[in-house]
Amino acid sequence: MSNLRFPENFLWGAATAAYQIEGAARDDGRGPSIWDTFSRTPGKVHQGHTGDVACDHYHRYADDVALMAELGLRAYRFSVAWPRIQPDGTGPVNPCGLDFYDRLVDALLDRGIDPIVTLYHWDLPQALGDRGGWTNRETAEHFATYATAVHARLGDRVDTWTTLNEPWCSAYLGYGNGVHAPGEQDPAAAFTAVHHLLLGHGLAARALRAAGAETIGITLNPADVRPADPASAADAAAVRLVDGLHNRIFLDPLLAGGYPEDVLEHVGGFVEPAFVRDGDEKLIAAPIDLLGINYYQPTYVAGRPGGAGGGGAYPGTEGAVEFLPPVGPLTDMGWMIEPAGLTRLLERIATDYPGVPMLITENGAAFPDKPGVDGPDGAGGVMDTDRIAYLDGHLRAAHEAIARGVDLRGYLVWSLLDNFEWAEGYRKRFGIVHVDYLTQRRTPKASARWYQEVISRNGL
Ligand code: FCB
Repeated sequence: MSNLRFPENFLWGAATAAYQIEGAARDDGRGPSIWDTFSRTPGKVHQGHTGDVACDHYHRYADDVALMAELGLRAYRFSVAWPRIQPDGTGPVNPCGLDFYDRLVDALLDRGIDPIVTLYHWDLPQALGDRGGWTNRETAEHFATYATAVHARLGDRVDTWTTLNEPWCSAYLGYGNGVHAPGEQDPAAAFTAVHHLLLGHGLAARALRAAGAETIGITLNPADVRPADPASAADAAAVRLVDGLHNRIFLDPLLAGGYPEDVLEHVGGFVEPAFVRDGDEKLIAAPIDLLGINYYQPTYVAGRPGGAGGGGAYPGTEGAVEFLPPVGPLTDMGWMIEPAGLTRLLERIATDYPGVPMLITENGAAFPDKPGVDGPDGAGGVMDTDRIAYLDGHLRAAHEAIARGVDLRGYLVWSLLDNFEWAEGYRKRFGIVHVDYLTQRRTPKASARWYQEVISRNGL
């Protein structure tokens, strides 16, 4: 295949999230989060796995940063665990919690790696969960207070701040279909959570702006929603509905001034949207500097009376929409591999919501890696050629978007390390670095060596 060069200053890096890698769940005053509770609830997470130990990154961060440097990463996206900073979600700040991120940021900067902070990657303090979590408007206000505390400690060294990771998952998987913490199944709660998450973003972004943060953004997992039959009017209507519930419900208030009418009407079938108060939309629509995009696979839908719909993850699609089963070669998550979806998605956002630079904050794949004896680095390596192919295809797709004029600033692979894959526990491996959970030994897979080359050449 042809050689491709990425723009100068294209930001190459990797991403992780606190609960998925840190472990040290009780160290230094960390309070419990809704994921500690959820993972201990029988039947919720594969084999009852928890984040108690995970990759023990909390104690091994220095070695992990050294590994990042060895791979040539220019940026590292991590999340801050709110329950380390405020064990109860409100009230006094726990300095030991901030100390950890302080050390981590210094270690990154020492190696010339740009820290990209995510303030919320799903580990809500349980004390706030007890008060309704994101269905409670106060959570949004507490989030801004927490964001301010983190910025006060790290803001002198961290330029890039993202408020939320994938609020679609927090709202619809947390409160709609219950696959994620806190495990509720209530469409009204899910839609209420959508708004309070966006409000939390707006309040935190305003606070960060006032405190002098340089680059402020949010990470979404917008869906590339496609019709089963491009010629079918019914399928086009299904696309419109699903696009509204997944994409426009976030993108419009963030980047186009307010919620779309058709979506509000749909939501009104489940809950009176009185939770949207005067001034909220204006706050949420305040300009951001960067939009983070997480992309894994496209979504194909058909408009069919009696269709099974998307369950609680897409309330109101039951009886009208069929979500097509994924086809073709699949990843270990059962996800479709369709790089063109990334190009389409980036172009669509650039067209419909012009003017915001984008960063791919996650893209990657789980495969059933088998550590071998004669791996790429001599011993115990993993020849993950399927992952290399996935990443190669998606980087070409990202490059195509840039060629078509999309302002794409960088690419962060998900993930640096194998880690706790939420409801799937440790059985799904997304890392470019293999983790042996018994010994905590890290072994770069072939994909890590390949990625190292890509970075050093700034291209493929
Ligand atoms: C995303 C999450 C991330 C990881 C990947 C596979 O939805 O943001 O934490 O689990 O999926």
